[in-house]
Amino acid sequence: MPISLIDETNEALPVWLAEAGGLEALPDAARAWAKVARFGAEAGSVLVVPGEGGAPAGAVLGLGKPDSRPDAAEWRALLAGNLARHLPDGDWRFAAEAAVDRDVAALALLLGQYRFARYRTGAKGDDKQPQIRFQAPQGVDTAELSAIADAVFLARDLINTPANDMGPAELEAAARGLAKEFGATVETVEGDALLAGNFPMIHAVGRASASAPRLIDLVWGKPSDPKVTLVGKGVVFDTGGLDIKPAAGMLLMKKDMGGAANVLALARMVMARGLGVRLRVLIPAVENAIAGAAFRPGDVLTSRKGKTVEIGNTDAEGRLVLADALALADEEAPELLIDMATLTGAARVALGPDLPPFYTADEGFAADLAAAGQRTADPLWRMPLWQPYVANLASKIADTNNVTSDAFAGSLTAALFLQGFVEKAKSWTHLDIFGWRPKPGPTGPVGGEAQGIRALYAVLKQRYPGDQA
Ligand code: BES
Ligand code: MN
Ligand code: ZN
Repeated sequence: MPISLIDETNEALPVWLAEAGGLEALPDAARAWAKVARFGAEAGSVLVVPGEGGAPAGAVLGLGKPDSRPDAAEWRALLAGNLARHLPDGDWRFAAEAAVDRDVAALALLLGQYRFARYRTGAKGDDKQPQIRFQAPQGVDTAELSAIADAVFLARDLINTPANDMGPAELEAAARGLAKEFGATVETVEGDALLAGNFPMIHAVGRASASAPRLIDLVWGKPSDPKVTLVGKGVVFDTGGLDIKPAAGMLLMKKDMGGAANVLALARMVMARGLGVRLRVLIPAVENAIAGAAFRPGDVLTSRKGKTVEIGNTDAEGRLVLADALALADEEAPELLIDMATLTGAARVALGPDLPPFYTADEGFAADLAAAGQRTADPLWRMPLWQPYVANLASKIADTNNVTSDAFAGSLTAALFLQGFVEKAKSWTHLDIFGWRPKPGPTGPVGGEAQGIRALYAVLKQRYPGDQA
C-alpha cells in the first residue's frame, strides 16, 4: 500500500491537531502560517505548513468545533483519513499525545488512501497514489490495523466490481482465493445440485440467470473451537425479478452482494489474526434475473426447513436465499450466527445509509456490539424483533408470505422473516446494511463500503482472542 504505518523514525514531520478557535496551541511558525492562510481548523481540513526553502515543515489537521460528546475521541479520529489525500509524500507522525483515539486515527489514515482503479486505463489526477510513511502512535498494533484495512479494501473491491465481472462464479472465486491464503476449505453446491442438496429457494431465485446459482461454504479453524457462522447475501445483481425494479432503483444493484463482501472481509480479519473460533462462512450466490425460468409472484416455494413460502414479490429475494442458508447454518447449532445483507430499502428510510440497523434477541451480544461500534467508530443501531408483526407476513395458502401486505416496518419484518428459519443457534444477529458510501468521506470515496465488520471483529476478538497475546 502506498501509505504504510511504520515504527519510529528520526525524520518524521509533525501533524498537529487543532480545534476551531484553538490555534494558539500550535508552535509559533505554524500558528503564524495558519493565520496567513486563514485556516479555520474546520473538521477534516488539512493545512501544510511550509518550512525553509518551501519544503513542508509540518501539517495541521482541523478537528472542527470543540465536541464534548463521550464518543467524540473516536468519531473525530476518522478525520485523520483526510491526511491520506492531503499530506505531501514523506515521513510523518502525530506531533503530541493525540486528542483523538489513536487506533481509529491510524486506521483512518490507511482507509483514506483507498482507490478503485481496476477499470481506469491511464491514471487520472485523483488516482495518483501518495507515498507516505506514517509513524504509528505509541501502543498501536500495526499488524492488526493493516489486517483490518486489507479486509475493508477487499469488501470495497468486491462491491465496486460490476456484475459483468462479479457473477456467482467470480464471487466463488473470491471465496476460494481467500480460503487458499489462510488454509480454509471451500465446498459449493451449484445449479441443479441445489435441488438435490435441498436448497430449493436458492435455486428458485437464481435459476433464471446465465450464471448458475450456488451456495458457497467456507470452513476454517480448529473443529473443537466455538462455532461462529457468518452468512452473507450474495445477490450479484438484483433486477427485482419479474417484479422488476425501475431504472433508478436498479442502477446500484451490483452492490446487492454487499453482505457477502462484508462477511468475507470479516472472515479475512478473523483468519489473518488467528482468532480462536471454528469459522464457517455461507454465501448463497445468485443473480435475481429475468428470463423464462424466473420464479413468479404467486409461486409457493418449499424451503430447506420445510416451511412453505408464498411469493408476494420477487424483489424480496434476499430473504429467500438467506433463509435456506440460515437453515443450513442452524443445523449445527453454532455458538454465534451472524448474517449480513443489503436486505431492504426500508432500513435506509429508517436510519439512512450510514447507520445500519441490527437485530438480535441476545441482550449480551447487542450490548457488546453497540459498545464495539462506538469504540471502533463503526456505527450500528439496534432495532427490535417486534413479534406482533409476524402476523403481517401471513399467507392465505402457505405457511408464510415473503412480504407483508402493508408498507410498514420493512426492515423489521424482513428480520422477522429470517428469524423464522433460526431455532438452534445459541445466538443470532442480523445486520441490514447499505454496503455503499453515497458521499465521499475522510475514510473513503463514493462506492462500496464495509459496514459493521470492524465492530463485529472487535466483539469476536474480545470473546475469542486466540493464541496471540
Ligand atoms: N436489494 C434490495 C434492497 C435494497 C434496495 C437495499 C436498495 C439497498 C438499497 C432487496 O432485494 C429489495 O429489493 N427489497 C425490497 C423488499 C420489498 C419488495 C418488500 C425493498 O426494499 O423494496
Ligand atoms: Mn430485491
Ligand atoms: Zn436484493
